[in-house]
Amino acid sequence: MRPIQATINLAAFRHNLAVARQHAPRSKVMAVIKANGYGHGLLNAAQGLADAEGFAVLSLSEALDLRHAGYEQNILLLEGLFDTDEALLANQHRLSLVIHQTEQVTILEALSLPHPFEVFVKINTGMNRLGFQPEQLTPLMQRLKQCANVGKITLMTHFANADEAAGIAQPLALFQQTVKDFSDYPISLANSASVLRYPESHGDWVRAGIMLYGATPFADTTASQLNLRPVMRFSSRIIAIQTLSQGDGLGYGHTFVADQAMRIGVVACGYADGYPRHAKNGTPIAVAGKSSRLIGRVSMDMLFVDLSHLPDCGLGDEVELWGDLVPVDAVAHSADTIGYELLCAVAARVPLQVSDRD
Ligand SMILES: Cc1ncc(COP(=O)(O)O)c(C=O)c1O
Repeated sequence: MRPIQATINLAAFRHNLAVARQHAPRSKVMAVIKANGYGHGLLNAAQGLADAEGFAVLSLSEALDLRHAGYEQNILLLEGLFDTDEALLANQHRLSLVIHQTEQVTILEALSLPHPFEVFVKINTGMNRLGFQPEQLTPLMQRLKQCANVGKITLMTHFANADEAAGIAQPLALFQQTVKDFSDYPISLANSASVLRYPESHGDWVRAGIMLYGATPFADTTASQLNLRPVMRFSSRIIAIQTLSQGDGLGYGHTFVADQAMRIGVVACGYADGYPRHAKNGTPIAVAGKSSRLIGRVSMDMLFVDLSHLPDCGLGDEVELWGDLVPVDAVAHSADTIGYELLCAVAARVPLQVSDRD
């Protein structure tokens, strides 16, 4: 067996959910577990976050997997229905729908369904991705109220800059202005960054994603500063040792050249496992619990770690790619990306193990 694995710690999920609740004590939590639970496994994420009042996913198949596994809480399809065919199954399984464009209302109006859908009406407050323009809301609400297939309505938006210096003041003001005639409707605005920084945005439902996985949404604040615990530990082992003399190049393209004699570990993890190929020389990595650095270019199935200062480390030793010792955000920073991308990109060939350790 190739020694690579990702271990998913359910206790860390529970801890991070508790942190979300501390920040937003009056809100229900919609745990965002799309993209295969941000790479952690949909059902692993659901198990660790089972206490959340809702789950948000993208596809009908994810939602049905959750229902088939016995989860009875609110399950929200974040992009709503894609076509009429999905409506019956979604209705039968009492899924909630985001409605972000008129065509989705037309689909609902044309159907005869056993029970009304709970819907989340998405308003565009400047993200310009999904959602109705503010001036569309009043006529839309009239239509929805007349539609027998629409039951409970929550008003939502998604902020473009909650994790940036620009913050949420402008879109929040626009949202509040837009919904002022609908003040008795529940609202849902906050992603993780907004949960952590903007209590005024919490509303009835917060939609927390990345913080529940123990990574930071911010460039300037680490997950541990936010009291978040990493849920995933991505690990492998050293499968070969090389020694380099001064002037020897390492790996494809010789992007690293030894300036002195060196001892190198070859690790069974590459970009086909989800480790970023663009991680630079010096990216943090841990060997047998000790800090080291990635060197050379990451190849499809292997990467290199510097063992020159770790004479006791060798063949078979465990390597943490990211986890408790090496924050995923630090690896992401070194590869010019964000923790979200690395977590979601862990490859299907990497076995996911579940643990539950405090
Ligand atoms: C509509 C919506 N709400 C909430 C989230 C969760 O965001 P985060 O992972 O930053 O908490 C996402 C994630 O992309 C989203 O698309």
